[in-house]
Amino acid sequence: MKNLVITIKTLFGLEHALKEELIELGYTNLEVLNRAVQLKGSWEDVYRLNYRCRIAISVLVEISSFTIHNEDDLYKKSKKIDWTSFFDVNKTFAVKGAVFSTLFKHSQFPMLLVKDAIVDVFRDQYGERPNVNTKAPQVMFDVYIKDRSVTISLNTSGLPLFQRGWRQETGEAPMNEVLAAGILRLSGWDKKSTLIDPMCGAGTIAIEAALWAADIPSMIERTHYAFKNFKSYDEKAWEKVQAEGNKRPVDLGFDILAYDIDGEMILKAKRNSKVAPIGNMIKFERKDALTLVAPNEKGTLICNPPYEERMGYNVEELYEKLGDLFKNSFIGYNCWIISSNMEALKQVGLRPSKRIKVFNGNLECSFRKYEIFEGTIKEQYHDSDNIEENPRETVKKSRRIKSVPNTSSFDKIENEEKRIEKRKRRPETERKSQDRRENTEKSQSSEELRSSKYGKFSKYQFGQTSAYKNQEEPENSKGITEKPNRETQSTPQVKKEQRKKETLKERIERIKKGREN
Ligand SMILES: C[S@@+](CC[C@H](N)C(=O)[O-])C[C@H]1O[C@@H](n2cnc3c(N)ncnc32)[C@H](O)[C@@H]1O
Repeated sequence: MKNLVITIKTLFGLEHALKEELIELGYTNLEVLNRAVQLKGSWEDVYRLNYRCRIAISVLVEISSFTIHNEDDLYKKSKKIDWTSFFDVNKTFAVKGAVFSTLFKHSQFPMLLVKDAIVDVFRDQYGERPNVNTKAPQVMFDVYIKDRSVTISLNTSGLPLFQRGWRQETGEAPMNEVLAAGILRLSGWDKKSTLIDPMCGAGTIAIEAALWAADIPSMIERTHYAFKNFKSYDEKAWEKVQAEGNKRPVDLGFDILAYDIDGEMILKAKRNSKVAPIGNMIKFERKDALTLVAPNEKGTLICNPPYEERMGYNVEELYEKLGDLFKNSFIGYNCWIISSNMEALKQVGLRPSKRIKVFNGNLECSFRKYEIFEGTIKEQYHDSDNIEENPRETVKKSRRIKSVPNTSSFDKIENEEKRIEKRKRRPETERKSQDRRENTEKSQSSEELRSSKYGKFSKYQFGQTSAYKNQEEPENSKGITEKPNRETQSTPQVKKEQRKKETLKERIERIKKGREN
C-alpha cells in the first residue's frame, strides 16, 4: 500500500537533481519542495530510498500534522499520539527539527515539548520511559513547525545519509558525499566517458562517480538506519531492497581518473575506494593538476580546489593557472569548478556557461561550467557577468507544512541578509538604537539557552546546526554532567541567568500541568 507520505530531504540546490534521480528509480507523482522532494509510497519504498538515493540526506515518514495556537497546544496534541506504537521503551530516541513560528521564543523549545510528550505517553502506559540520546539515537523524530502548522515525522534514516560507511579517512576539507553525488548529476556527466578529478583529496567525487556509474547502491557499506528500530520494520522488505541492483565492481569501459599533489591524500583516497567497494574502477595518481593533459578528445573534469590561503596555497594564482590549463590542455572537455572563493573564481579568466549556487557545509559555493572549445580565449571577467543561477528560483512551489526542511541554516542566512538590507534603509539614529536592542536580545537569548539544562548544541557535521540540537544534560569533554560553578553564582549576571533557567524549566512544567492559557 502506497499510503505513506514520504519526504526525501536534500541539500540546497539539489532538489531537481534529486527529482531526476527519483524518476530513474521509477517514482512518479513527485512534488519538489525547498530542499526536499515528496512522494507517496510503502515501507519498501522507504527502505529503497534510504539505500539507493545518492542525493538524499534523510527520508521522513509523516505520522501526524495539526494546527496549534500556543505552546500548550503542541504538548497536548503531541500527547495524543500513541508513541508506543512506533518504538519500544528500551530504544533510545531524539527529537529534532526546525521551527519557523513566532509562537515559540526558543527554536528548541518545541522539540523539548514533543520529547516530554513522548516520555509522558510511555510513562502513562508502561510506568517507564525511553532514554534520550542525541548523538546516536536508535529512533529519531522530526518536528517541523511553520507558523501554526505542525508536522511530525519519523526520521527513518537516523544519522544523515551522507554517512555512507565507506569514507574512513578524510583530508582537511572533505566534501559531503551527498553534495559530490549532486554535483556529478548537475554536471550532466553521461557515465560513459572519461571523468577526471584533478584535486581529489579523499576521493569523494571520484568514488561517488564510480558507485553511480556501476549502479552500486550508495549505502552499500552502511548498516545503521533508524527504520530498523521502529516497530514497523519489515525485514523481508529490507532484504528484497538490498537484493536489487548491481553490487559488484565492474569494468566500466572508460576512465575515472583522480589526482592530487599530496601523496598522503592519494593513499587515503585509495583506502576509501577499497572500502567503497569499487575495486580498481578509479585510477589514482599523485600528480600536480597543473601538469595534466587530457587523455582523449572528450570528457568531464570536476575540480574542487582549495578555497582558502590557509591550506598553504596562493589560491588566486592557482585558479588562474587552472583557467590556463583548461584552455590549453582540455579542449573538447566540460570543465567544472566548485568553490566558495568568488574572487579566486574570477581569476580563472574563462566565461562560465553555467553557474549553480550550492552549499558545501555552511559555505555558499558556485559550481561553474567552462566548455572548452578550440580557440577558447581567456577574457577579462566582468562583475556584471557574475550572476548565479539560483536553483531555488526554479522551485516553483514554496514549501508547505507537509514538507520538512533539511536545515534551517540557509533560512538563517536569508533572514540575516534581509535584516541587513532592511537595516541599511533605516536612518542612522534608528539603526543605532535598534542595534542596541538587538544586541541585548541576542545576548539574553543565547545566555538563556546556554545556561538552560537544554542549552548545549551538538554541532552537526557540515553546519546543520539548528535542526539538530541537543536535548540532553550538557556534558563536558569527559562526559561528566557539568554543575554550575558555585563561586560565580552570586554575580548579578549569574542570578539573572538562573532566573531565566528556572523560567524555561518552569514553563515546561506549567504547560505539562495545563496551567498556561
Ligand atoms: C578542497 S580539497 C579537495 C577535497 C576533496 N573533494 C574531498 O572530498 O576530499 C583540495 C585538494 O586539492 C589538492 N591540490 C592543491 N593543489 C593541487 C595541485 N596543484 N594539483 C593537485 N592537487 C592539488 C590538495 O592537496 C587537496 O587535497
